[in-house]
Formats: sequence, C-alpha cells, structure tokens
Amino acid sequence: MRAGAGRTQIHDYQHDDQGETVLTGALGLATASRPLGDEAEVVKAGAVGTPARALSVDRLTLTDFRSYTHLRLDCGPASVVLNGANGVGKTNILEAISFLAPGRGLRGARLAAPSRHDGGDGDGNGDGNGDGRPWAVAARINTPDGYRDLGSGLGASADGNRQKRLVRIDGEAVSSQAALAEVFSVQWLTPAMDRLFLDGATARRRFLDRLIIGHDAAHAGRVLAYGHALRERSRLLRGQAPADGAWLDALEDTMAAKGVAVAAARIDLVGRLNAVTARPPGPFPGAGLMIGGELENWLISGPALDAEDRLRDALKASREPDAVNGGAARGPHRSDLIVRHLTKGRPAAECSTGEQKALLIAIILAAARMQMETRGAAPGLLLDEVTAHLDAGRREALFDEIAALGAQAWMTGTEATLFEGLRGRARFFTIDGGRAWES
Ligand SMILES: Nc1ncnc2c1ncn2[C@@H]1O[C@H](COP(=O)(O)OP(=O)(O)O)[C@@H](O)[C@H]1O
Ligand SMILES: [Mg+2]
Repeated sequence: MRAGAGRTQIHDYQHDDQGETVLTGALGLATASRPLGDEAEVVKAGAVGTPARALSVDRLTLTDFRSYTHLRLDCGPASVVLNGANGVGKTNILEAISFLAPGRGLRGARLAAPSRHDGGDGDGNGDGNGDGRPWAVAARINTPDGYRDLGSGLGASADGNRQKRLVRIDGEAVSSQAALAEVFSVQWLTPAMDRLFLDGATARRRFLDRLIIGHDAAHAGRVLAYGHALRERSRLLRGQAPADGAWLDALEDTMAAKGVAVAAARIDLVGRLNAVTARPPGPFPGAGLMIGGELENWLISGPALDAEDRLRDALKASREPDAVNGGAARGPHRSDLIVRHLTKGRPAAECSTGEQKALLIAIILAAARMQMETRGAAPGLLLDEVTAHLDAGRREALFDEIAALGAQAWMTGTEATLFEGLRGRARFFTIDGGRAWES
C-alpha cells in the first residue's frame, strides 16, 4: 500500500514546525512556580527508583478557576474518583487538567471563560467576557523522566494590549502551548461526546488529533499552524481591500505543507490504531476506523509532494468562492473520522447511545495502550460521568483496563458507590463548597 511511502515522508514535514502561532508572553504565572511543599511529600508521591509507567498529575493547584478560588489536590500517581452533587465543580477539575495540554480544554472554552466570576458560582454562561479574575492551573506531573512542573493560565501579552494563554514548563515561560504536549498527554471523554458520532465532523477531527498528539507531540504545532494560516487567509479574502497576492500565496504554501503533514499523521495513526481497536479489552466492542477526505485520498494514492502541490493549487483556485463563503472549501479541515462497530458491522452513528459510548471508551483505551507501548507511558485519562451508560460488566472491565495500563484516570460521578470496584486502587475525593476532601 502506498500509505507506507507517505509515512516515510512525514518526517520531511516535521522539521519546519515554526509558524507557531499561539504565542505566550514572558510574564509568569503566579502559581506555576510555587515552591514545593516538603520533599517528603514528593518522595511519597512517586514510586521511588522506578520510572513512571504512566503520566500522572501528582499535585494539582487551581487559582480563580471557574468555581474555585483556590484548590490544591495532592493525589499522587493513583487514579482519582471525584464525587459530589450536580454543579459542585467536578467537571471543572477535569477541565483544569485538560488545560495542561495544548488547545481549548475539554469544554472548548474561550480564553477567559474559566476565570472565576465574583460571587462564587458566576453566571455560568461561559461567555468569556473576561469579567472574572485571571485563571491559573499548575501541576506537578510524574513522567518516566522524573517530575515536571506545568502551569497554564490567562495573562496579558507582552505589549499588555491583549489577553493570551500563558504556559510555563519547569518554571520557565515557553512561547508555544504546543510544548505542553512534549511533557504531558491527556485524553478525555465527556457527556458532550456522547454525540460525537452524530454531530458534525469538527469534533471527530479534534478527537482524532488529540489521539495523534498523544503519540506524536509535534502534531499539536502542525494543527495550530494550519489553523492559523487558514484563519489568516479567510481574514484577507474577506477584507475590504483587495488581498495581497504574495501574502495569500505564502499562507496557502503554509496550509499545503502543514495540511499534508496533518493528513499524513492522521492516516498513520488510524492505520496503527486499527490493529489495536480490532482487539478490544474484555466486553468492549471492536472499532474500525477510517479517515475520509480528499487530501487523505491523494496521500494514499500518490507521493506527499504531489498532494502538497494539489492542495496549494486547489486553494489558489478557490479564492473567489472562499471569499464569499468564508473558510476554505478544500483541505484537511474538511476530513472526517469514520468509525464502525465491528461486531455489529454498522456505522457508529447507527448504534445505541450505550454502544457508542463503549466504542469511544474502546478507542481511548486502545490509544492509551499503544501510547504506553510506543512512548513508554500511558496518558492521563479524564473520564467525566463515564459510568452513566455502562453496565456493571463494562464498568468493571474499564476499571481493570485502567489498572492494567497503570494509567491515572480522573473519574467523576454523583454516586461514589458506582466506583466501589476501585476501592484500594484509586483515591476518592468528595467535592462541595469549592473544597475537596478525601473520602
Ligand atoms: N467562570 C466561572 N466562575 C465561577 N463559577 C463558574 C464559572 N464557570 C462555571 N462556574 C460554576 O461551576 C459550576 C459547575 O461546575 P461543574 O464542574 O460543571 O459541576 P459538576 O460537579 O456537576 O461537574 C456551576 O455552579 C457554574 O456556575
Ligand atoms: Mg459535571
């Protein structure tokens, strides 16, 4: 198959991941470089002398993050169960962890939306008006290379004119949030993703891109750079003045190079993942994955450089309609992840809600297993209300697979009883009134 030829060329594209667009300033995050408590606590948190098999958030600190003024959880490498009534802030904690990875977190929030509104519970509309205090999340991550400190939050740009996402790694400000992916990796499942197979392709592409970033951290920079060039081109095309041709050419060059790299990485991961998702753990269904898109087809049937030329030409030819319609009619942002339930032999969208959830869990677990094998450490797993659609058999199988992976899973639920199978294997915290205590 020709995909192999494409794969060897992917590396050509990994070299130039500049054009990095989401830049952060030199300003520090107040909480990110907070000095360590006591060393004894750190020694206790990790397995002394043995490299971590999984990436874990051993300590998490939230400052002015959604419903929390200040919260610190010292949890060590074990999995964590968060329980409490609706609205107490369980998902907020998972969202905070999701900001230790590049992107907009598990709610897809606007930059300032997590900033805590005065009055405690805020208006909850997440409109991102920035009327709250600037949010910050800091964490101590246990990795196979030792402990690393990550921080992320809202701050001002160097010129002070703009709000931007700040990122710190080991106390140093870094210029790109994509760098987070080199240190930490996290996958999530939320109730909103129950509709992943039913709604538009955007969420499925993001899901796939997150899986890829877990295996290949450079994918984060590629996706960001492609998106930036795409938005910049749209802005130019829709502007009042006639667009500068040379500038458009340069942006389309970037879109073609990054776009082909993005598509090649998607083909590569889907191919490798299929081998694992076909043999799911326990009672989970086998999943068949396919990436559908014009660019992917070009890449599978011909050399990557040809695909790049074709995309560049296609973009240039569609400037007029794109100026009218917005966005771009061609490119990897039009591709879709297609999933089939292998045992049923049906598209995922035609399966029951429970079956779709089981498929998603099977895919996440397969990707985590692959990541443990290729990267040497399983990713963190954020499983929000994940037990809701699972029968007892699948629930226990999920817990067993998390344990077998050695992964740190953060799970939420209103009923702690659904997690009894994890007693002794996870830390249990009850959340209420903006505080957490071990239960
Ligand atoms: N920016 C914010 N500032 C203050 N409170 C917020 C903000 N965003 C959301 N909240 C509050 O967080 C609570 C929801 O927390 P969430 O983690 O979703 O609860 P659950 O425990 O049900 O998962 C709501 O009370 C909401 O008003
Ligand atoms: Mg919730």
